[in-house]
Amino acid sequence: MVTLDEVQTREARHVLQTYRRAPVTFVRGQGVRLYDLDGREYLDLLSGIGVASLGHAHPALARAIADQAGTLLHTSNLFYHPLQGQLAERLANLSGLPRAFFCNSGTEAVEACLKFARRYWFTKGERRIEIIALEESFHGRTFGSLSVTSDEHYRTPFEPLLSGVRFVPVNEPAALIAAVSSSTAAIIAEPIQGEGGIRPLTPAFASSINEACAKTGALLIADEVQSGLGRTGYPFYFAALGLKPHLVAVGKALGSGVPVGAALISDEVAQAISFGDHGSTYGGNLLACRAALCFLDLLVGGGLLAHVGRVGRSFEQRLRQLASKHPMVKQVRGAGLMWGLELTRDAAPVVPAALAEGVIVNRTAENVVRLLPPLVITQDEADEALGRLDAALHVVGAGA
Ligand SMILES: Cc1ncc(COP(=O)(O)O)c(C=O)c1O
Repeated sequence: MVTLDEVQTREARHVLQTYRRAPVTFVRGQGVRLYDLDGREYLDLLSGIGVASLGHAHPALARAIADQAGTLLHTSNLFYHPLQGQLAERLANLSGLPRAFFCNSGTEAVEACLKFARRYWFTKGERRIEIIALEESFHGRTFGSLSVTSDEHYRTPFEPLLSGVRFVPVNEPAALIAAVSSSTAAIIAEPIQGEGGIRPLTPAFASSINEACAKTGALLIADEVQSGLGRTGYPFYFAALGLKPHLVAVGKALGSGVPVGAALISDEVAQAISFGDHGSTYGGNLLACRAALCFLDLLVGGGLLAHVGRVGRSFEQRLRQLASKHPMVKQVRGAGLMWGLELTRDAAPVVPAALAEGVIVNRTAENVVRLLPPLVITQDEADEALGRLDAALHVVGAGA
């Protein structure tokens, strides 16, 4: 069997060095458990950054993928196949947005939303190009998505980005209202900011977004790539906030590990789109649709959504207990199974300390420990995993 050292040496030579990886090589998974090269077990509270919604090696998903691979994987969007319409219909029923455009990742879903917003105003004969985005936002790494992402570290080396983007502070209704005008094509917002440190929009801020859209005609793009599809205990967190988006970007959880993204589109916007306006070779192929249909079967019919609600409530209680025990935990934020622990210090040392205790977490926004466990996590597994995180926080606290 290969060793960690061999894996690292080969990657260091041949893989473009854009990721700083933790020194662990996973070779197998089962439910919420991952196993490394030495057979060591870890509880996964990250699910590959919110992707492995059904956990690892889920039998129904594995069967669906294998069956589809043995039948037909891909034919392109030049032809029909039976699954894309079924998936679009299911997503329409969940979101209230009647149409879907399929792609392969979150950033592509955001790109599609941005292009469709532009196209909407072009079709109306109004040259609106201004986009209002939020500070602390993250929407992806391609040029359009990067243009509405606020972090200077991600942006600066690639400028100039799209023109006409303005950032406003999060959860400041007056600033938002003042920024949106009859020149605004769209507002883009994550209902819970993910990379920005698990920051839910407040109901007052959500109302101000609705008010600004109603007053100016600006479209609303909800980026639910991280917060959508059951992660928060709701099908979409925009609905929990009472937001009324015209476009919704989804990805991550939808394929539970098979790359699939989608832009969900209102009738009003869909009517502005013509044949040939946008496309993707792989988007919505049979494999992606089969995986996504399997996930949605379990989410809705299989009771996973209700499960997230139940486990999420006790997960939150356990996190609040942790916060009361560890003075370095300043705030607990999130919903369902999407949580951030804001620390009074840099959260980076928590990640290796947690790995040493056998639990996988992630740091975001410098001082936030981010938790995005598989949606299938049970109460007992959550208790065990948070027990290990508790131990890791002790180690980090003692070393401070
Ligand atoms: C809210 C949000 N939008 C978009 C993206 C980009 O998704 P992807 O990495 O699949 O392109 C992410 C990824 O973390 C995200 O959290």
